[in-house]
Parts: sequence; structure tokens; C-alpha cells
Amino acid sequence: MTRIEGSRDKEGAGQGVVTRRLDPIHGPSVLAAPEFLLDKESLDLLTAPVAAIRGKLSHNPHTAAVILAGGTGERFGRIGGKQTLELQGKPVLTWSAEAFDAVSDVGLIVIVAPEERMDEYCREAIDGFPFVTPVLMAPAGVLRQESSFSGISRVPSTYEFIAIHDAARPLVTPELIGHTLSAVRGNLDADGAVVGYPAIDTLKIVSDEGIIGTPDRSAFWVAQTPQAFRSDVLREAHATALAEGFVGTDDSSLVERIGGRVLLVQGPRNNIKITVPEDRLAIEAGLGMWLQERV
Ligand code: CTP
Ligand code: MG
Repeated sequence: MTRIEGSRDKEGAGQGVVTRRLDPIHGPSVLAAPEFLLDKESLDLLTAPVAAIRGKLSHNPHTAAVILAGGTGERFGRIGGKQTLELQGKPVLTWSAEAFDAVSDVGLIVIVAPEERMDEYCREAIDGFPFVTPVLMAPAGVLRQESSFSGISRVPSTYEFIAIHDAARPLVTPELIGHTLSAVRGNLDADGAVVGYPAIDTLKIVSDEGIIGTPDRSAFWVAQTPQAFRSDVLREAHATALAEGFVGTDDSSLVERIGGRVLLVQGPRNNIKITVPEDRLAIEAGLGMWLQERV
């Protein structure tokens, strides 16, 4: 199923952060609203943090975003999964997609979702939000790598760069995405750039017998998403992995194994992935701080 949303008419709509706050007591539009709007549910809706970063779209975008929301969220354990879980007033998937919508060089957002849930994800996480970037859905695979391949396959060859992101990392910001894209675009000999941060804990190599080594920590970084690549290299990396039966845990590993040069962009440690229930608290706190900073 293919679905395209959004329009291209917001170019130049302003660089600043836009905050939309509806105050149920002082907002004239609300005072004028019929009484039935002021029941508990409506008040919750009106007072929910809806600070939004405004979507931007350049006339000549070079990048397509592939947002991976095709997992089942087993470790998180919620019926309905984690993508539509509302944190600080918005579904996890919406937070991630909005960050890409706010990057003007991103001209297309492909959301990879389980085929039977595409409509639901669109309805709950996309349709009700003011995206300016066209949104396309792609069917997920069983493995993350298959989902990534599915999303990449939907990107027209006119896009020079593809940025992959785990939808489950809602704390991603337009600034971090922009920084990652600049790293690839600004380095002609780089095939990609990956967000991560240097390992801060001491690492151990462990076997059934116990600890067998303590590697030099300074060489280790924790890799996250977004991960941005030159499209042709990423396509070749996926095709090669598929042909050779290689399965990696991220997209960068596929590019690395065909000899691609991938840079590491240092990001904030709080760009965490919602994986287990305990992550929810940290992500909500992060989004809350983010909202406060931007109000
Ligand atoms: N993902 C995907 N397709 C898959 C597996 C994962 O698009 N077949 C996506 C997830 O939706 C998530 C991201 O890849 O946004 C990172 O995966 P993970 O955190 O492992 O999420 P889930 O696979 O959903 O969770 P779990 O492994 O606990 O089932
Ligand atoms: Mg998984």
C-alpha cells in the first residue's frame, strides 16, 4: 500500500522553532468553543504539550529518510507495540518523523511498518500532524535489515542520500540529523556517517569461563541512528549482504563490509532507543526537557 501525505508549499516558512500552545482558560478560540469541547478529554487534549518543530522542505531536496517502525516491540511488551505509545503528548513514531520533517533537505519520508498496521500507524501517528514532507509507507520484513531494504527500495534514485532512523529513538533532533547529513555531504570521500558516542564504561570480553580480556576502551563507540549514506553505496551494500546471506545489526555494518568509509558523528547520549519498559521514563524526561527548552 502506498500513501503520500503533505505538500510542498511551506518552503521558507521561517527558521525558528514554532510552539503551539492552547490555553483552555485564556485562549479566545477555546472560550468561544461550544461547551462540549471542554469535557475532561478535550481539556487533556488542549493542554497536552504540543510544541512542534515546523516542517521544512527545500525546492531541491537531496535526502530521503527511511524510518524503521516495523518491529513488534517484544521486549517492550505493550499490546499494540511501542510505535504508537504516546510520550509527552505524541506517539513515539510521530516524534521521530517530525524531526526529519523539520530538515529541509529531507524531501521524502518512508515509514516502514508491519503491512497489517500501516493504516493504523498512518491514522495515529501521521495523519493528525502537520507534515510538509511527503510520507510514504513501506512493508516491514521479519529482520530489521529486511525492513531497511524495503524502505530503501521505495526511495527514488533521484535522492543522493538516504538517512536511516530507528523510529524507537524519538529524542532525535533536526540538528542531529542535519549534522549527520553535513558530515557525509561535506566529506567527498565518505560514504556515510553514523551517530554515536564514545564508550564510557569499561568493556570486558567474556566467555563461558568468565572475563577473558579488557580491551582499550578508547577505540570503542556506541553506534545509534540516524545513519546517513550515499544512496548508491547503501543500495550496493544491501544487495551484497542479501546475495551473501550476511545479516548485520545496523546499516553501517553492511557498508563497512563492502569497503565503504563511514564517519562517526558524536551525538548526545540521550538519543536512546525505547526497548524495555524502563526506557520509557528516561525518554519521557528527555522529551519533557526538550519541550521546556523550546517553549
Ligand atoms: N524494526 C523494523 N523491522 C524489524 C525489526 C525492527 O523496522 N523487522 C525497527 C523497530 O521498529 C525499531 C528499530 O527497528 O524502531 C530498532 O529495533 P528494536 O528496538 O529491536 O525494536 P523491535 O524489533 O520492535 O523490538 P524487539 O526487538 O524488542 O521486538
Ligand atoms: Mg528488534
